[in-house]
Amino acid sequence: MKTAIVTGCPGQDASYLSELLLEKGYKVYGIYRRSSTEKNASNMAVAERHTDFHQINLDITDASGIFSIISHIRPDEYYNLAAMSHVGQSFKEPISCAYVNGTAVTIVLEAIAKHSPHTRFYQASTSEMFGGITESQSETTSFVPRSPYSAAKLYAHNMVDIYRKSYGIYACCGILFNHESPRRGFDFVTRKITSGIARYKLGLSSHIELGNLAAKRDWGHAKDYVRAMWMMLQAQEPSDYVVATGETISIKDALEYVCGIAGVEPNEACKINPAFNRPLEVNVLCGDPSKIKRELGWQPEYTWQDLLYEMYQHDYSINYSQSVLNSSGKEKVEETQVQA
Ligand code: GDD
Repeated sequence: MKTAIVTGCPGQDASYLSELLLEKGYKVYGIYRRSSTEKNASNMAVAERHTDFHQINLDITDASGIFSIISHIRPDEYYNLAAMSHVGQSFKEPISCAYVNGTAVTIVLEAIAKHSPHTRFYQASTSEMFGGITESQSETTSFVPRSPYSAAKLYAHNMVDIYRKSYGIYACCGILFNHESPRRGFDFVTRKITSGIARYKLGLSSHIELGNLAAKRDWGHAKDYVRAMWMMLQAQEPSDYVVATGETISIKDALEYVCGIAGVEPNEACKINPAFNRPLEVNVLCGDPSKIKRELGWQPEYTWQDLLYEMYQHDYSINYSQSVLNSSGKEKVEETQVQA
């Protein structure tokens, strides 16, 4: 039985990846930070029912804790999915972002090199590192970070390469483009749109508020992307891979598509609020996934249309049941939408 450590529970990616690994017969140790355990706890419901899933409460910036679990468990695989993942928020907390997204990765690399060199390591790098580059982005494109988030991620990305070359450990970075699902946090733009438009459709809110509608993103489904993470750690040689669909659309396109499913008018359902603009924006992300398709045989199963449709249907049904309860006077509607 293989053993894996997955950080970033109970987030979207860690929950889907834990389920995938458990299905494949792994024993999985999921690392939670104490303050994350309430938020999104339901994401882990499937994994937590499994007898081969074990929960560890630990902050990934706690070096002694990370050294201790790596030297005790000596896992076959370690997936580092914990991060401060909201780019806008990183402008407000740049120093803690540097620790969590940057320094914490050096801690785990050092622990693996010293105490468990057979462990295969996956680092969640990001398309945000391309920042100001506007053409199609691949593994050979330059990095021009435009946020504290992506600068810290680029430091971690470089450290993975340095440890791979210096100590011969098997370590890979997945340069993942935006990936979403019904488990996405409510402060990311896709979920803000799908949940906000569902609530608007049901008469539970007067409108949604968004920032820059002109930015473009290459959106895939998180389920497809966690499969890519696992495939990277099964290859003969470690390498870094772009994971993307190769198609890019604007926030405005996504909003219009979801409004089309709901049958509502985008200009009435959505108002622009400049408070949601970032100090520095990444205008266009569009990945070239040729390398992972060619070398590992990875293929995404979802299009961005499938993804947004699934998210909208999910959000409509949870808000619908709340609105029915509310109208029958039995229970108050809970606010599920958190503004970014
Ligand atoms: N969050 C948010 N809220 N974004 C908005 C809003 C809003 O109200 N209005 C417009 N946007 C725009 C942002 O300015 C950005 O251009 C785009 O929508 C996407 O924002 P997010 O959904 O917050 O994602 P992101 O692209 O910044 O970052 C995500 O993808 C990265 C991979 O490229 C995160 O998941 C990162 O952790 C990840 O690395």
